[in-house]
Amino acid sequence: MNLEKEIEKRRTFAIISHPDAGKTTLTEKFLLFGGAIKTAGAVKQNKIRKSATSDFMEIEKQRGISVATSVMGFEYAGRKVNILDTPGHKDFAEDTYRTLTAVDSVILVVDSVKGVEEQTERLMEVCRMRNTPVIIFVNKMDREGRNPFELIDELEEKLEIGVRPLTWPIGQGQNFQGVYNLYRKQLNLFEPDQTRISEHFIEIRGTEDPELDRWIPSAFCDQLREDVELIEGVYEPFSARHYLEGSLAPVFFGSAVNNFGVREMLETFIEIAPPPHEREAAERVVNAAETPLTGFVFKIHANLDPNHRDRTAFFKVCSGKFERNRFYHHTRLGKKMRFANPTQFMANEKNLIEDAWPGDVIGLYDNGNLKIGDTLTEGEELQFRGIPSFSPEIFKEVINRDPFKAKQLEKGLRQLTEEGVAQLFLQHGNRKIVGTVGELQFDVIRFRLEHEYGASSDFTPLRYFKAFWITGKDRAQYDEFLRRKSPVIAEDKEGHPVFFAESEWMLNVAKENYPGVTFHETSEFKTEGSGS
Ligand code: G4P
Repeated sequence: MNLEKEIEKRRTFAIISHPDAGKTTLTEKFLLFGGAIKTAGAVKQNKIRKSATSDFMEIEKQRGISVATSVMGFEYAGRKVNILDTPGHKDFAEDTYRTLTAVDSVILVVDSVKGVEEQTERLMEVCRMRNTPVIIFVNKMDREGRNPFELIDELEEKLEIGVRPLTWPIGQGQNFQGVYNLYRKQLNLFEPDQTRISEHFIEIRGTEDPELDRWIPSAFCDQLREDVELIEGVYEPFSARHYLEGSLAPVFFGSAVNNFGVREMLETFIEIAPPPHEREAAERVVNAAETPLTGFVFKIHANLDPNHRDRTAFFKVCSGKFERNRFYHHTRLGKKMRFANPTQFMANEKNLIEDAWPGDVIGLYDNGNLKIGDTLTEGEELQFRGIPSFSPEIFKEVINRDPFKAKQLEKGLRQLTEEGVAQLFLQHGNRKIVGTVGELQFDVIRFRLEHEYGASSDFTPLRYFKAFWITGKDRAQYDEFLRRKSPVIAEDKEGHPVFFAESEWMLNVAKENYPGVTFHETSEFKTEGSGS
């Protein structure tokens, strides 16, 4: 009974955006509403600044600070809201993809001036893979942005999802008057102010209500009436079911920095966003309401203090109740583990906890037993799915500069890739190829290999475009492909064959010549026929 109540209370989600669209600002406003922080600025300080790309030490320092804020919990309107922070920096995109596998829904922030940007599209692809419900917040309405109709058309087209505006802007930029809430039939008047928390709502009986003219200049009233008529005519009424299935995204307009339109969205979020439900494991689907504990690790964070080699594993509870000091079954290692100091994060603080429930993310102190994707249970042999590796975009061969430190290099590379800093591929048994989504990771790896493992390394760039996990529908063709392409075939950490395509053109040629081979963009594919 208790378990069901705790599940119903929880909303676990991530805010995602292209850098600079306003993710950090929005997160901060949520925390202010939730009382988790008292003043603006607290989250901002933890942000990995874009300007710091060349200053890697600065990033490491900030990365350290951001451990505590990687998950932020607060109570709002009787709900326990867990926000999973995702790094805005594009070089840490892989980290973001993985975090998305641990949330039940997502809020996507779009800049009203820039519209849908590249990174937004890619993040949305990951959401689509799992049918994650998405709410869209069009931010910076206080700027001269794009026409809102044009914007929602672009959202629909580029994000490949149906959209339904729930609020609608009245003017924008200098002339931004506020928004009309189509759902609640409420007017929310805009007054630029970065410090306030309350908003000025006026109830009206639809856009025909003459009360509207009392508050808004007549030219804007006419435009709003026209717009609303068009919206109601073109769009189906909002369907919570379609939202929960991940096929329809409600859209809100506002200005995060001015704290405008944020509470409106938060209240709708609380009402419609899903609580933790079920999760697919390789063996079966696990329901959140099952009593035995299950959960998985989706992120590992190394401690920055070189004197302590410990790491924090971020563990998402999927079912049952997690209890401190209780023994759990680590399914990959087949061993019992117990955690004396599990922590939960509240804004800037890290607190020891006694228990946790489905939807919660806790930090487990680890000295090398846990890897991304590991599952803990009360004894059942389970392996949660849905934490795939995505194809890296930059590939380099690792060169050992100190033959006496080969072991250290090996160990360092293994541990860093277990943390998810990069992916490691092995070719012909010993050639090591590291793949990442950003250049920055190579600085991180080189630095950490040297400082934490005493290994000295260099990286030689390789001209690959992407890595594809391959399986075969036709055994003979698959074997021939592996043989012929052996210079560009390697194995991932699980021993699965991976093909490095030099260009998109080369990939297409390979696909044409070998129709019996399937090329997968992520490591998670259902095993198919003879190939794997
Ligand atoms: P991110 O996490 O998505 O990268 O974005 P972040 O919140 O850091 O916001 C990026 C910039 O956009 C910040 O300005 C922020 O103040 C500004 N911003 C956020 N919301 C709004 C909005 O509604 N209207 C306008 N006009 N600006 C907004 P900055 O100059 O980079 O930082 P700061 O010095 O202002 O903190």
